[in-house]
Amino acid sequence: MNKKPILSVRNLEISFSQYTKGLRRIDSKAINNLDIDLYKGEILAVVGSSGSGKSLLAHSILGILPSNANLKGDIYYKDEILDEKRKEKLRGKEIVFIPQSVNYLDPLMEVGKQVKISIKDKKKSNTILERVFRKYNLDKKVEKYYPFQLSGGMARKVLLSSALVSNAEVIIADEPTPGLDEKSLNEALKDFRDLADNGCAVLIIT
Ligand SMILES: Nc1ncnc2c1ncn2[C@@H]1O[C@H](COP(=O)(O)OP(=O)(O)OP(=O)(O)O)[C@@H](O)[C@H]1O
Ligand SMILES: [Mg+2]
Repeated sequence: MNKKPILSVRNLEISFSQYTKGLRRIDSKAINNLDIDLYKGEILAVVGSSGSGKSLLAHSILGILPSNANLKGDIYYKDEILDEKRKEKLRGKEIVFIPQSVNYLDPLMEVGKQVKISIKDKKKSNTILERVFRKYNLDKKVEKYYPFQLSGGMARKVLLSSALVSNAEVIIADEPTPGLDEKSLNEALKDFRDLADNGCAVLIIT
């Protein structure tokens, strides 16, 4: 295994400024003093109870924290500081997110198109889309559906498909499997394993 981590989180602290009665500002800490090293070829699981800051951790790496969140500490990607500008540049390309909420799907775009955006090889995008949908038992006609036409499980599979067809070097999956049938669940876990075996680094939040 490669000795240097592809992604490192050092001393991460996320707090929220909140105003109480009398406009007194208080800072509440959601994450304190967190270190993570993620290596190529590795699947790292982050486990924590509800509200412990797992999604915030994912959002801080992706650069999509809410505006009232304060971020302290350093995040490194390939030995360089991952600042907000670089996060935006890499997001959806080298660093791909599978969100916990299916609300991340664009409500006004057919889901097939949304998955195709993640495919780098545009000439093969139809074939790749068909293949991943077949694998997850999504009917061909689902390509033309809008997110509101999907069940929760179908939406999960679409989000999962988008990440799996991408050329990601790092995948951050925030609780990617609830609502999946057993076959799709096993398929997804196998796919994460395959991605890691092919040199991807996978961070799974469960
Ligand atoms: N915009 C916000 N303003 C204030 N507090 C927030 C905000 N977003 C999240 N929090 C708080 O930060 C904490 C961590 O939230 P987070 O969503 O990361 O939890 P989680 O570990 O992902 O939980 P779950 O397992 O339920 O998904 C929670 O206590 C939450 O209330
Ligand atoms: Mg969460």
